[in-house]
Amino acid sequence: MTSKTFSLRDNSTGGQVELDVRSGTIGPDVVEIGSLYPEKGVFTYDPGFASTASCSSTITYIDGEQGVLLYRGYPIEQLAEKSSFLEVAYLLLHGELPGQAQLDSFIHSISTHTMMNETLLRLFNGFHTNAHPMAMVAGVVGSMSAFYHDTMDIYDARQREIFSHRIIAKLPTIAAAAYKHTLGQPFMYPRNSLDYTSNLLRMFFAVPAARYEVDPIAAEALDLLFILHADHEQNCSTSTVRLAGSSGTNPYSAIASGIAALWGAAHGGANEAVLGMLEEIGSAKNIATYVDRAKDKADPFRLMGFGHRVYKNFDPRATIIREMCHRVLNQMGQTDSPVFDLALKLEEIALKDEYFLEKQLYPNVDFYSGIIYRALGIPSSMYTVMFAIARSVGWVAHWQEMIIDPETRIGRPRQLYIGAPQRDYTPIKKR
Ligand code: SDX
Repeated sequence: MTSKTFSLRDNSTGGQVELDVRSGTIGPDVVEIGSLYPEKGVFTYDPGFASTASCSSTITYIDGEQGVLLYRGYPIEQLAEKSSFLEVAYLLLHGELPGQAQLDSFIHSISTHTMMNETLLRLFNGFHTNAHPMAMVAGVVGSMSAFYHDTMDIYDARQREIFSHRIIAKLPTIAAAAYKHTLGQPFMYPRNSLDYTSNLLRMFFAVPAARYEVDPIAAEALDLLFILHADHEQNCSTSTVRLAGSSGTNPYSAIASGIAALWGAAHGGANEAVLGMLEEIGSAKNIATYVDRAKDKADPFRLMGFGHRVYKNFDPRATIIREMCHRVLNQMGQTDSPVFDLALKLEEIALKDEYFLEKQLYPNVDFYSGIIYRALGIPSSMYTVMFAIARSVGWVAHWQEMIIDPETRIGRPRQLYIGAPQRDYTPIKKR
């Protein structure tokens, strides 16, 4: 703990308040403001929390200016090149890279938790076939609290571990069940003999009437996309999981709240919105019109997949995914991808535009990911579900960190009240 302090001068009274400053391992210091209200009767004000740290964490570090993303200190570029999604999941959950025996045991546990309670599967029959897959996934994950009573004690370490393996293992199965429901096709049971992403692809695309061979290129591409989406510090959905979890609710409900938050187009829903936007733009000759619309304050249209609250130069994940697009499309023989060509053209034009440069708006993780999902045959309605499968690891890691953090209290922000002053009730006859 450093002895640094931060002085605030109250010009209305001439008074001064000394606030403690805490330093992390790397990154900005934080000013501890907890004493401000009790001692000075004022709140801080930061809608969107752009300058507010909600917690201390050891899981992920982001430097928005330098485009740095570290999972437990390891650069995302190294993990993307050398690791696997389940190894990264172990790292995020436990803080260290696993030894071979630890990894084998973790993979075995995930592989043997992939099936769902049969009555849970029947919930899908309650949805119309045109239900959005995110609606089904959020609903079914939330209802897991009605089935798995053996993992509801959030203060029992073993129950927390079983819960975390269940969520990571079952989300692909739940996602596949939602997808098959929209197709009116029979649900395909998981195969424990397959690796994580091969199992998912088979559950998505196999049918009982025909043989199905998983394309190893597709499985490898998905594994890399899941590594890149696994965690991202205190983003909207992760902060939602922490806030919901701080009330002491069961872990399945906390994760379901994260899925709900991720669905928003400003967050994880952007990957689906990017494909819709590219299809609406249609051809390069229309790009200038849409870029102008994105700059027009009177027009609610924004360039989906551009901009980020933290990254102000480039999103390192977008850089990796853009390179991956070229490789996956070539390997899958889809060299002629009009939507990818259009995306590259849109990025080129936007990044020469004064507005985007001045506002520091660059492609983010969602700009290119949908192009790869599309190349793998996954429909755009499933893109945010894919994001949720990967991010479930980060949500669980942060939820666990929050539960055992001695500093955790129920999250309960205050406000600046700008409503009506106190007034008396008037009878309806006098209104
Ligand atoms: C994710 O937090 C995370 O880490 C999220 C994420 C993760 O891994 O969890 O990285 C995943 O959610 C990525 C973001 C996906 N969303 C989109 O691509 C949607 C389009 N982007 C924007 O909605 C926006 O850029 C946000 C939501 C990403 C960031 O919003 P901020 O930080 O609140 O920025 P802002 O809305 O205050 O915008 C700043 C300025 C504004 O102009 P002014 O009011 O200052 O004049 O930039 C403009 C905005 O109008 N702007 C855009 C724009 N994004 C911001 N203008 C046109 N197109 C855009 N995409």
